[in-house]
Amino acid sequence: MSPDTPPPGVVRKAVFPVAGLGTRFLPATKASPKEMLPVVDKPLVQYAVEEAVAAGIEVLVFINGRNKTSIPDHFDKAYELEKELEARGKQQMLEVVQGIVPPHVSCVYIRQAEALGLGHAVLCARPVVGNEPFAVLLADDLVDGQGGSALSQMTRVYAEHQTSVLGVEVVDGPEISRYGVVATDDDDGDTALINGIVEKPPATEAPSNLGVLGRYILEPRIFELLENVPRGSGGEYQLTDAIAALLVEQRVLAYRIRGRRYDCGSKLGYLQATVDYALKHPELREGFRDYLRELNANGGLRD
Ligand code: G1P
Repeated sequence: MSPDTPPPGVVRKAVFPVAGLGTRFLPATKASPKEMLPVVDKPLVQYAVEEAVAAGIEVLVFINGRNKTSIPDHFDKAYELEKELEARGKQQMLEVVQGIVPPHVSCVYIRQAEALGLGHAVLCARPVVGNEPFAVLLADDLVDGQGGSALSQMTRVYAEHQTSVLGVEVVDGPEISRYGVVATDDDDGDTALINGIVEKPPATEAPSNLGVLGRYILEPRIFELLENVPRGSGGEYQLTDAIAALLVEQRVLAYRIRGRRYDCGSKLGYLQATVDYALKHPELREGFRDYLRELNANGGLRD
């Protein structure tokens, strides 16, 4: 086996599509990407990177669009800032800044010239991913995993079954029409075999209440299928449509992620994440909890 081939069941590379326009957060996203929006003190994309690194990922592949130089800058070495922090004796902050990407992990940036959809973004990663399984993480889905990061849970499933795995969650009500939705068989309550998948169906036509959240582990065969998908939902090249073709040929599993997922692509989900992460933040939790209590006591939380 060449040293460039991972052992069976191991996922080493992760793709971060970060080329979307972020229109729901305009004007905040006019000149900087939505993945750089902070939840408390870390940008969304850093949470996703930390999740991937915790799952053993060693190569981070960012699919960039316009206005995205802040992402490479964020994961790059910041000589001037580090010098300044050192000179001022801010050792703790220096370690925070230096520890964003561990030394054994490398970052690769690929430019997606046009925002043609998630499927197209993932296909742009092919020259770097090559012929091995890989993860896809959508940073605007922030997942506070229970019993390991969301992706670590999924890499465990992948190690056992060695076939593509999609992270899913139960989505009740009309909201389901905002997701890729799976139909399943052989459901053991954790994992299930997917026998159908559809992108953003009308709620009345959704095949189940299991929505795909932005975590995928995919076999490289998906790239060939992505080359052939026609434009789908929203006129874009959809990853979901290529997965529909993949599951005709190979087993694709749905895994119910343990933990709480925040839709940080929406203002409400983003604010919920901010409140919950602030309530867990070592520096903030007491002061912020007191503030919320005070707000509540003063009737500030009433309609
Ligand atoms: C994308 C996928 C969709 C998935 C969702 C999860 O949609 O296309 O299948 O359910 O992410 O967040 P988007 O939200 O980017 O429109």
